[in-house]
Amino acid sequence: MSTPIVELKAVGKHFRAADGSARSVLEGVDFTLREGEIVALLGQSGSGKSTMLRIMAGLIQADAGQVLYRGMPLYGTARGIRMVFQSFALFPWLTVQKNVELGLEAQGMAPEERARRAEKVIDLIGLSGFEGALPRELSGGMRQRVGIARALVMEPEVLLMDEAFSALDVLTGERLREEILDLWQSGQIPTKAILVVSHNIEEAVMMADRVLIFASDPGRVRAELPISLPQPRKAESAEVRQLIDKVYELMTASAGKRGGLISEKEVKLALGDRLPQADIAHMEGILQLLVAEPFHGRADLPKLAEETELTDAELLEVLNALILLGFAYLTNGDILLTELGGRYVKAGNTERQEMFGKQLLEHVPLIAYICHGLQQDKSGDLPEDLFLKLLRFTLSEEEAERALRVAIEWGRYGDLFEYNFNTGVIQLPEEDEQDEV
Ligand SMILES: Nc1ncnc2c1ncn2[C@@H]1O[C@H](COP(=O)(O)OP(=O)(O)O)[C@@H](O)[C@H]1O
Ligand SMILES: [Mg+2]
Repeated sequence: MSTPIVELKAVGKHFRAADGSARSVLEGVDFTLREGEIVALLGQSGSGKSTMLRIMAGLIQADAGQVLYRGMPLYGTARGIRMVFQSFALFPWLTVQKNVELGLEAQGMAPEERARRAEKVIDLIGLSGFEGALPRELSGGMRQRVGIARALVMEPEVLLMDEAFSALDVLTGERLREEILDLWQSGQIPTKAILVVSHNIEEAVMMADRVLIFASDPGRVRAELPISLPQPRKAESAEVRQLIDKVYELMTASAGKRGGLISEKEVKLALGDRLPQADIAHMEGILQLLVAEPFHGRADLPKLAEETELTDAELLEVLNALILLGFAYLTNGDILLTELGGRYVKAGNTERQEMFGKQLLEHVPLIAYICHGLQQDKSGDLPEDLFLKLLRFTLSEEEAERALRVAIEWGRYGDLFEYNFNTGVIQLPEEDEQDEV
């Protein structure tokens, strides 16, 4: 067996809920990532996969067990271990080049050196010619390339990819996956081991030397399947199909209770919690779908999924946002409009914004906190960094960024505050604007 790089020994992690009760998310996780291997991690949404990766990346600490990196306890983030996140988490106001350079800059590397390193990776990952582009000018696939470039530029020996391909359309995801495999096999990147979290069984079987299946509540490794087929593999081959069946069997054999959707009657978020990554257009689109034929306010999830152009992961985020804000709820695997949700769909624009704003203040502590801060402040404006710092107490850098982006987008729509994209300043909306509409 080759040399271990990262070892988890009996790792456990609790999170504290808003009511103070502790929830065990990981328990007794044993896992070793070795030199030369790609390992895929499959498991239901909410089973703790991202938490495990964040522990391995040193973004959060385990509260039981041991994490070793090259035989030494891991404290905080290590330069050699980098994570690629599902959502692109790019800084919208920075060019591709600057987004890629950020980690090097943070290390204090000289500008010429980091520009050189960034250019090399940008070239490698197929972004040449886009150095000066802003994230919003790029397609999803290109944005995820930037996310990957940002990890690769640090020349990590361990690459942790958390559903890095799942926000992309199928073909783009496949192409990018193949390119990463190519870079890895041809030794063009110094990476020595890769751990990929995927919700796509085929992707796992195509990429990995081992597939791990995670159990939920609490999360732990339930089964392991070695895959010795040589690369490149053919998705249609009998061997691959057989393995896919096998994994499927292992996964459904004793599938956990959690399906990844908020099912509690009332959800209480805490200030530093993540927010569902759902944009307003998608939320309103799903509400429209729900109210109309053939659903009439109640939809079976797979049927609803068929009717949308969203991926499963995106749909879940949107539904969680709707549930969180009190527009829908989950019962017996169906999603139902609430009375409020029904009224919302029928309301005019101004009324909608008002209803939306009210729900935000009630259900999203982060947004209520921002509004409170703005009202307390003499000038009525505050830099977003203030809130990012706060979020970084409980979330990783990327998650903090994501949560704030969502909060800002929602809050703007609810007419609770405005945001200046150039300066990153959040401010109270101008009074008269509200009355004019
Ligand atoms: N910072 C946090 N605070 C509280 N609960 C959290 C936090 N991060 C994750 N969780 C909870 O831990 C569980 C596992 O989450 P996660 O690791 O993201 O699962 P997965 O990646 O498998 O979908 C979920 O129930 C989630 O709500
Ligand atoms: Mg996850």
